[in-house]
Amino acid sequence: MKISLALVISLSTALAAVAPGFGSVTRGGPGGVTVTPTTLAELKAALCGSKDSTGKCNDTTPRIIKITKTFDFRGSEGIMTETGCITKACPNPANNELALARSGFCDGRTSTTVKYDAAGTTPLLVGSNKSIIGVGSAGKLLGKGLILKGGQNNIVIQNIQISDINDGIIWGGDAIQMDGASNVVIDHNHFARIGRQMIVTGFSAAKFISITNNYFDGRRTRSSFCDGSHYWLWLFLGANDKITVANNYIYHTSGRGPHTGGLKNGTIRLHMVNNYFDTLTGEGAIDGMTTTSFTLAEGNYFKNVTYPVYSYKSDPGYVFAPFVGAQTSAWSNCQTYIGRACVPNDQSSGSTAYRPLHIEALTPLTIYRKFLMTPVVASAVPALVTASAGVGKI
Ligand SMILES: *[C@@H]1O[C@H](CO)[C@@H](O)[C@H](O)[C@H]1NC(C)=O
Ligand SMILES: *[C@@H]1O[C@H](CO)[C@@H](O)[C@H](O)[C@H]1NC(C)=O
Ligand SMILES: *[C@@H]1O[C@H](CO)[C@@H](O)[C@H](O)[C@H]1NC(C)=O
Ligand SMILES: *[C@@H]1O[C@H](CO)[C@@H](O)[C@H](O)[C@H]1NC(C)=O
Repeated sequence: MKISLALVISLSTALAAVAPGFGSVTRGGPGGVTVTPTTLAELKAALCGSKDSTGKCNDTTPRIIKITKTFDFRGSEGIMTETGCITKACPNPANNELALARSGFCDGRTSTTVKYDAAGTTPLLVGSNKSIIGVGSAGKLLGKGLILKGGQNNIVIQNIQISDINDGIIWGGDAIQMDGASNVVIDHNHFARIGRQMIVTGFSAAKFISITNNYFDGRRTRSSFCDGSHYWLWLFLGANDKITVANNYIYHTSGRGPHTGGLKNGTIRLHMVNNYFDTLTGEGAIDGMTTTSFTLAEGNYFKNVTYPVYSYKSDPGYVFAPFVGAQTSAWSNCQTYIGRACVPNDQSSGSTAYRPLHIEALTPLTIYRKFLMTPVVASAVPALVTASAGVGKI
């Protein structure tokens, strides 16, 4: 068979998608140089080598950044002491979650002196066209998170542990923040012991994002509900977010799985697929806050989760969440709006009180059909996700 030259070239330059879903166009840094930083300064420079006069990262050079060791930022920028507060007093004060006085959070709460690590509050800037990839199970980022801000595009964050950022101190730092970012894949990472959000978007759009195959470990000593579980999991507040959250293992969290909308102009299109939620206390998992948040949750497995879908008293967020054996007549809406049957969620225990099937959540997804992954049956998810997600499995 004769193959044309044009075809040979397009085959050799075509790269496979790193992840399915909204982020499936993302390729990261291939085509650029591969660097292996060894010091904190080298890592910082590899992620973002230049800034413009406003402090925005303007380094768009394609780069593959291999993370072969632990980068421990703790203590590197000094220890701070200031007046903050206690989120909620626990029976044992050693379990009190603390907070820095930011955004009015400490108004009306009991004041206390908070000692924290400055490095946690100054995340690393990441520029466009970068792949940040852990090697084996060796890639770790301790004490500092990543921020993708001001229009960054085409970034892969894969196979690293991000942890130990002012654990137990709200506003002490997020693990990954996206504020005006597009085409991002966050895949096969491990998140643990983060002061505030494990992943947060807003207020500018986070478009075409896939959060796949990660471990989110919420176990901690200081917590919002005094129960050893992390409340601040995922907060999606961007002006035009389009996000897939799939095949993740989430354990011992107590809320915001995710919290969508509710502040400023947050408009969120979210597809939650085949995630395994294991032992969630407090408010449980999905919480759609406002009528500009649209969540389709299908094929997820909830084991020992207080509320798979949570609703505050006057919570109007739109969620379409079919469950095995319940209200099956409404499922045909999936065929109508996304062109296939939805795969129901499953749960082993926990509340069955709120199982919304809002058609309003499906209609904004209609034009994005090609980005909607097809789930596997929910009962297969616990075994599948624990075997394939997390660090050291790419
Ligand atoms: C980034 O911005 C700085 C300051 O404006 C400028 O000197 C530099 O050339 C820019 N770098 C790139 C890669 O655009
Ligand atoms: C790098 O990123 C910029 C901004 O997103 C984009 O315009 C450019 O095409 C990218 N370059 C390469 C070589 O991928
Ligand atoms: C939403 O708000 C943010 C920040 O307030 C702004 O940057 C953005 O342009 C707004 N987007 C829309 C679609 O209004
Ligand atoms: C269910 O979760 C609770 C915490 O909410 C925990 O105490 C209990 O051991 C869990 N049960 C099982 C069977 O995992």
